[in-house]
Amino acid sequence: MKFRRSLSLLLLSGCFSTAFAQSGNQAKIESLIKKMSIEEKVGQMAQVTLDVIGKGKGRFESDEPFSLDDAALKKTLLQYHVGSVLNTSNNRARTPQVWYGIISKIQNVAMKQSKHGIPVIYGVDEMHGATYTAGATMFPQQIGQAATFNRALVKNGASITAYETRASSIPWNFAPLLDLGADPRFPRQWESFGEDPYVISELGLAAVKGYEGEDGRVAHPEKVATSLKHFLGYQVPVSGKDRTPAYISDQALREYHLPPFKAAIDAGAKTIMINSGIINGVPVHANHHILTELLKEELGFKGLVVTDWGDIENLYKRDHIAKDDKEAIMLAINAGIDMSMIAYNYETFCDNLIALVKEGKVKESRIDDAVRRILWVKYELNLFDKPTTNPKDYPKFGSKAFENAAYQTAAESITLLKNTDAALPLSKSAKILVTGPNANSMRTLNGAWTYSWQGEKVEEFAGKYNTILEALQLKAGKDKVTYLPGVSYKMDGKYYEEYADKLEETIAAAQTADVIVLCLGENTYTETPGNLNDLYLSDLQTELAQRLAATGKKIILVLNEGRPRIISKFEKKMSAVIQSYLPGNFGGDALADVLYGDVNPSGKLPYTYPQFPNALFTYYHKPSESRETTEGVYNYDADYNPQYVFGHGLSYTSFKYDQLKLSSNTLKAGESMTISVNISNTGKVTGKETVLLFTSDLVASMISPDIKRLRGFDKLELKAGETKTVTFRISPQDLAFVGTDNKKVTEPGEFTVQIGDQKANFNYSL
Ligand code: BGC
Repeated sequence: MKFRRSLSLLLLSGCFSTAFAQSGNQAKIESLIKKMSIEEKVGQMAQVTLDVIGKGKGRFESDEPFSLDDAALKKTLLQYHVGSVLNTSNNRARTPQVWYGIISKIQNVAMKQSKHGIPVIYGVDEMHGATYTAGATMFPQQIGQAATFNRALVKNGASITAYETRASSIPWNFAPLLDLGADPRFPRQWESFGEDPYVISELGLAAVKGYEGEDGRVAHPEKVATSLKHFLGYQVPVSGKDRTPAYISDQALREYHLPPFKAAIDAGAKTIMINSGIINGVPVHANHHILTELLKEELGFKGLVVTDWGDIENLYKRDHIAKDDKEAIMLAINAGIDMSMIAYNYETFCDNLIALVKEGKVKESRIDDAVRRILWVKYELNLFDKPTTNPKDYPKFGSKAFENAAYQTAAESITLLKNTDAALPLSKSAKILVTGPNANSMRTLNGAWTYSWQGEKVEEFAGKYNTILEALQLKAGKDKVTYLPGVSYKMDGKYYEEYADKLEETIAAAQTADVIVLCLGENTYTETPGNLNDLYLSDLQTELAQRLAATGKKIILVLNEGRPRIISKFEKKMSAVIQSYLPGNFGGDALADVLYGDVNPSGKLPYTYPQFPNALFTYYHKPSESRETTEGVYNYDADYNPQYVFGHGLSYTSFKYDQLKLSSNTLKAGESMTISVNISNTGKVTGKETVLLFTSDLVASMISPDIKRLRGFDKLELKAGETKTVTFRISPQDLAFVGTDNKKVTEPGEFTVQIGDQKANFNYSL
């Protein structure tokens, strides 16, 4: 056993050096490492937030305008040799020119005044566009991107974000987020591509290719290095609250959480960020099994592993698995961390790690491994030759073409969930009342990670774009549109704080309107400040909806929310329901186009929309959770009762599926089969349809198989009356599941294929 382990290690380290050799920089990296002191190596492993080297205390508006502090720069970069900086200063976006000035100065000190001239690697969170750059193009957040089910749109969005990030002189993006967004309570579900491992893998891959380039050549000045996050199992803590304990079996980790990361690593993603949480009692930052055995050895990840914010300190101060900072640093570095996102107390990190190496508690070979990975990424990014990129070389920054791409993604993300009696599209002659806390806010259209961490500065930066109200006024004419908020968010309070705002006037105004466009949802949040106690939509918004419904007027409910807040108390009274997610700066325009029928909606839900707080399911639940009828006297009715199922999304046209054909009704090991189906547009207008292919494994040895799993998707456009055939290819590996021994297996037996309402069975044999 021991022999086998060391043999596989040997083989893996063989691959590792080949990769270096291929990059052509291995010799340079090795010779640098030989020349570096322990202090210099440890400094490379440290990452500080920009405020640390800025004038003033940081995070205060009184520290504006931001400028770098020469003494702090010298101490951090020259005395402590810190290798990386992250984040913006004072939590606000900067122009590309300001970024260029800041980063040029940092690189000048790091490269011209130090012994080895190693550039700093600068990283930020550009989650749906260049978050921290004023004037950048904001796309829908990842959850909306997922609803498009359109790989090309996701890739193009990432590519534009990479361009605008480099236009800001920044080469490293802490994206994409590959967490399994399987819990609607979690405050970051909207940052994910939803609940399905296959969708996350496919769209994650598209994003990595958009950011890093098809060939992964991030030296290209329009590409950035990605940081896949958060490895592994971040979004499913028991409490539903951020950074609290999760209990996940190895089997479930591998079945549901690992595939998107594996796909992105296989595609060559350069860096990875670790889950801030705790799995099965062990903080992931101290988990040698996950960081070294699984990530570096088994998956063969050769890039750099960075912590999340302050997470080494958390091992001591939050989780109490270390008695002090020093022990925490020892645990994390020995577990496999390469770089610590410290973010402030870099002296503590560096001094302690140097001491640990000198005491033999952290091996120098472990430090060399970390530094080798860090330098590798710096070379891959060509930072030694081109440490900054100049905004003047990026004429397409914020261009019309980029804006159109963001609009297109928003338009394809919008998901029509209900449309009774063709309540939509609206007639332009109708008098509409626009109301609700989300009706006139650029902030709520964007969500957090927009010009600041929690999104509270959006109105300051996004004034030129249209809110839902403004877009409707432009479309239908101001004389057709009345606006009254009814309920408003307290913009300087907690994200969930609201107040009645002209509520009585709103109800009175409803009497004279033909249609009510009711814009409900959430204000902006992420991470711990976004924790939630009650998944029902707020009481005040529910009251607004119910009182409006009592007027008997037709109501179009527009949801603008980061997670599916429960609407079952009034959903039946709504004529139409539209989910807009967090569609970005062009969300208002896209929504107006959908509401008036200039765009035919084609988004599909990338998660299961719950109907009750104690009934949270994913679509790939177990048969025991979905026993609608049983034989005999007992009736376990409707345990599985979502408001809307995963993949649900209506159109203004209708689609008919038929002619499901399998190339054979038997599949053998080593072979593959094709599955085709015809889709016809049976309505009156052109529409786009996402075709979802599910399979069900009817009998399997592992507990019980999932009810069904998505194995393929494709999106196509059909004119009225047009029919197209979609073909998928399936191999036995696509049907595999992770067994109790944590290994993937495809067991012989019967499977069902389902596309739309079409079903067919086939048999798999060895
Ligand atoms: C978040 C990460 C983010 C990091 C840097 C953390 O608090 O969890 O997703 O990349 O901060 O801003």
